[in-house]
Amino acid sequence: MRQIGVAIVGTGWCGGIRAETCAAHPLAKSLHIAEIRPERLAEVARLTGAKTAVSDYRELLKVGEIEAVYISATPETTHYPMARDWLAAGKHVFLEKPIAMEQRFNPKFAYVRKSIRDGTIGKPVSALVSRHITRGLGKKISGRVKLSPAAMECTHDLDFVLWCLEPAKPVRVYSQANYGAMQASSGAPIADTQWITVTMDSGLSFVVGGGWSLPPGYPNFSTTWIEMVGTEGALLVDDSHRDVVLNTIEKGMQLPMSTMPGERVDHTYAGPMAAETVHFLEAVAYDRPVMVTPEHARMVMEIYMAADLSAERNESVTLPLKGSKSVRAAA
Ligand SMILES: NC(=O)c1ccc[n+]([C@@H]2O[C@H](COP(=O)([O-])OP(=O)(O)OC[C@H]3O[C@@H](n4cnc5c(N)ncnc54)[C@H](O)[C@@H]3O)[C@@H](O)[C@H]2O)c1
Repeated sequence: MRQIGVAIVGTGWCGGIRAETCAAHPLAKSLHIAEIRPERLAEVARLTGAKTAVSDYRELLKVGEIEAVYISATPETTHYPMARDWLAAGKHVFLEKPIAMEQRFNPKFAYVRKSIRDGTIGKPVSALVSRHITRGLGKKISGRVKLSPAAMECTHDLDFVLWCLEPAKPVRVYSQANYGAMQASSGAPIADTQWITVTMDSGLSFVVGGGWSLPPGYPNFSTTWIEMVGTEGALLVDDSHRDVVLNTIEKGMQLPMSTMPGERVDHTYAGPMAAETVHFLEAVAYDRPVMVTPEHARMVMEIYMAADLSAERNESVTLPLKGSKSVRAAA
């Protein structure tokens, strides 16, 4: 077994999960973390037994034994310079969404794809995915940088549906954004929900909707509903996390296992983020292909950018976007 050194940049919510997952994995020879909040740096260093814990990630670039890095810092504007520096240092880079792949590690989502690929529901005819999170989390996300529900929420499901429909490619996007609670509370033009219709070159169209203004009744509540309709069958999938309900005298009803990345439950992990973290670790250690190609990730990004453009102009947008380069050309 070839063990590798691993780094995590930004050990907040998601980076903390990734750090703990790597620390517990036998393929990780050593863990190195960078975090600008000293108290969180100390906390995660203690939880994971990190070999190096620094505030400036650039100190880690020269650590020879680090082969792979997870970039989990916010705001998202930090992603580009960090990814650039790590790639230039010759390391394997896992970059957190807005370019995302996590739903592929949710077994319910993987089952939908499998049912298309093995012919169970025939030829796909249309699809709908609707995802909502609570406004507390929406406030955290939309407060740090100007990114829409399309970029931050729909990105998961655009990736998922495109993955299901491979090799079809998107050719047209139409989107509308809806304003309400988020705008009222922040005074900024932040949409509550955004709906995107995507037309593929196969003729099929699908709808993805995302929102972040649900009432704060559930900590980090993430609810998703999927409809995948084919010529021979259909799949309706409930990923709303309503299956585990905790009711206490002090706090009333709660949905304790309801976050999108998931959470640790003693020796197990409920949700996709641990499996996704291990997938990347194994890909680097065993020199295996990663599940998401840069081309696919860029295709997802182009759709949510087109969606924002469409919502702004009130008209459909044809892909590829004008002036966009292919991934290879951009690189
Ligand atoms: N896939 C998912 O389900 C999912 C869910 C939530 C968030 N995310 C993504 O994960 C990323 C992290 O989100 P989060 O909710 O964990 O954010 P967070 O704010 O909880 O954590 C980010 C951390 O980065 C740290 N940081 C900021 N600048 C830094 C720097 N220069 N060097 C080192 N650390 C720095 C912050 O102090 C903070 O602790 C985001 O890109 C977000 O979009 C993914």
